This record gives sequence, structure tokens and C-alpha cells, in this order.
Amino acid sequence: MEKELLLQVKNLQISWLLDKALIPIVCGLDFSLKSGKVLALVGESGCGKSVTSLSLLRLLAKELKIVGGEILFYGQNDEKTLDMAKVNPRGKDIQKIRGGAVSMIFQEPMSSFSPLYTIGYQIMEVIQLHKDVSKKEAKRITVELLKKVGIADAKNAVDRYPYEFSGGMRQRAMIAKALSCDPLLLIADEPTTALDVTIQNQILNLMCDMKQEFRTSIIFITHDLGVVGQMADEVAIMYMGRIIEQGITREIFKNPKHPYTIKLLDAVPRLGDLEARRRLETIQGNVPGLFDRPSGCAFRPRCDYFISGICDTTFPDLREVSKDHFAACYLYGYGESNR
Ligand SMILES: Nc1ncnc2c1ncn2[C@@H]1O[C@H](COP(=O)(O)OP(=O)(O)O)[C@@H](O)[C@H]1O
Ligand SMILES: [Mg+2]
Repeated sequence: MEKELLLQVKNLQISWLLDKALIPIVCGLDFSLKSGKVLALVGESGCGKSVTSLSLLRLLAKELKIVGGEILFYGQNDEKTLDMAKVNPRGKDIQKIRGGAVSMIFQEPMSSFSPLYTIGYQIMEVIQLHKDVSKKEAKRITVELLKKVGIADAKNAVDRYPYEFSGGMRQRAMIAKALSCDPLLLIADEPTTALDVTIQNQILNLMCDMKQEFRTSIIFITHDLGVVGQMADEVAIMYMGRIIEQGITREIFKNPKHPYTIKLLDAVPRLGDLEARRRLETIQGNVPGLFDRPSGCAFRPRCDYFISGICDTTFPDLREVSKDHFAACYLYGYGESNR
């Protein structure tokens, strides 16, 4: 059965407004997500993952502007489709969605909890904001959620303050908070980056369970392709604000096309090779700065297959290289120079 579409991002463009000039950060993203599916957005630091995820909930800093494109959120059944790129970022429509139908978890759980109130109080507050329930019922739901995310002694933990929780527990509590209103979409921006490998695996398993149990769709953002294999149905690889390869996870891992994706995969340790866990920094060279965006393909200064007079002209489009598998590279789908 074809799963229904929940979110469709079309040609999303975000720029930094600096002294009346617009510096492009996100340069035309297209992706979509079906109910109950996990899409991973992957790329090195600075490629625009967080800016993209914040834009989906219109939480961008005020100097960052959506300058083009659509963010269509279909919601449930007969709800009207909302173009979140066009709504007032402080208006009613988006406020209803934030922490309700769409919620977000971050790398740093402290950004989602105030140190001044108990964990339980802060989760109950969200529940009462979005659901018509009594305080007592909100507390009951909160304890259930804390149990569900694997917090021991949830009955007492609910009355503790964030500083009384370990890093892993805070991350779990943040997931509980994000799930408290049964979101249709969870945006997870590097949710496990600050955690050690064991806790990271627990959190990833927890998110997989949540997806199974609640059919929550997830946009999973990471710079680590290694964790994507466990989590995602589909992967979109980003480089300097563009998607350069996209497809079903298994296909991308088995048959990567873009030279950047191939390098990212080379940097992923094999199973059982945790000691040698290398990070993406192993790719030679750096991501260029926003003010030094190369002409043509932004990856060309680091690419072993750079072809002068082709790769430095205009940016290649995403073209289908096999069924449902797309790459934006002059090596694919542009005729004679195919490998
Ligand atoms: N508020 C801001 N003002 C100006 N530039 C920003 C702002 N936020 C992010 N950027 C720039 O946008 C680019 C993408 O950033 P970000 O989305 O945080 O990357 P990622 O999450 O992939 O590491 C970076 O070059 C970053 O410096
Ligand atoms: Mg980020």
C-alpha cells in the first residue's frame, strides 16, 4: 500500500540577510516524507542541516530568510494543507503545529528544558497546551511517557530537575517531551552526537520503537553516515545547502554514486570496528565558507574526478541514476562522461 505523503519540501531556499545582501545558505532543497518513514539528512558540519530543520518550524534566526520555495505540510486526513514557508512565524497556524503535530529534538537537551522547573512540569505544560486534559491526567501521561522512553522509577523522576538527570536521561526526557503530543513528524537534529556510543545506540533504538509504535515520521539529521543505516528508510546527502545524492538507504550504501557520498561511506567504520571510529573529517580539505562558494559544483575543489570546463560551470541537477536513486554530478546522466 502506498503510504500517504506528510511533508513535501519544494525548492526551499534560505539566505542570510547581511547589510542588504542575501548570502545563500540553502540553495533549493527538494525532499518529501511519507507517514511512518524516516528520512536522514546527512552532511558535514556547516552544510545547512540545522538551518533547514529550523526553517521547517519557522524557528530561524531573524537574519535568516526563506527566499523561495514551499514547505507543504499535509497533516492528517482532511486537515488543510499548510505551506509553512508562507505562514507568519509568530502566527497561530505555526504555533499550533510546533510541539503538536511537529516536534523537534536537539543535540543539546538543555536547550529544550529550563533548569528552573522539574522535568515533569515542563512535559505536562506541553501536554496541557495542546490537549484538553486535567493536570492530574497530564501528569499520568507524563509518567507513562517517561516509562516508555526507559527512565527508571518514572513516578519519582517526574518531580526531578534537569540537573538531577544524566546526559542520557535528559536526552530520553527530551524525546518524551517531543512525543508528548503524539507528533506526526519528529525532527531530530543530531540527537545523539553528544552521547557515548552505548547511550547513542539506546536512543536510536528508542526512536525506532517510537516509529513502530506511533507511526511517527522522522527527519533524522546527522553528520555520521554510520548511524543512518540503522535508522533511515531514505537518505539525502547534503553539501553546501544542496542535496547531492538521494535514495533508499540500502541502495545508497550498496551503490553510492556521488564522489562525496563515496568518501563519506569510506569514512564509516565497519561493523565491530568501533575503536577505529573515524569521523567525516577524514575527507581531505574543508567545506568552503559561505563567502567562497565555488562556481558550478560546490564539491569540485575536493573532488578526484573534477573536469575543468564542466564541473566549474553551473551546478549539476539531481538526475535519476537508477530507480528512485538520484545524484547531482556531471558523471551521471550527462552523456559521454559516464563512468
Ligand atoms: N544565524 C546565522 N547567521 C548567519 N549565518 C548562519 C546563521 N546560522 C547558520 N549560519 C550559517 O549557515 C551555514 C549552515 O549552518 P548549519 O545549518 O548550522 O549547518 P549544519 O547544521 O549542517 O552544521 C553555516 O555556514 C553557518 O555558519
Ligand atoms: Mg547543525
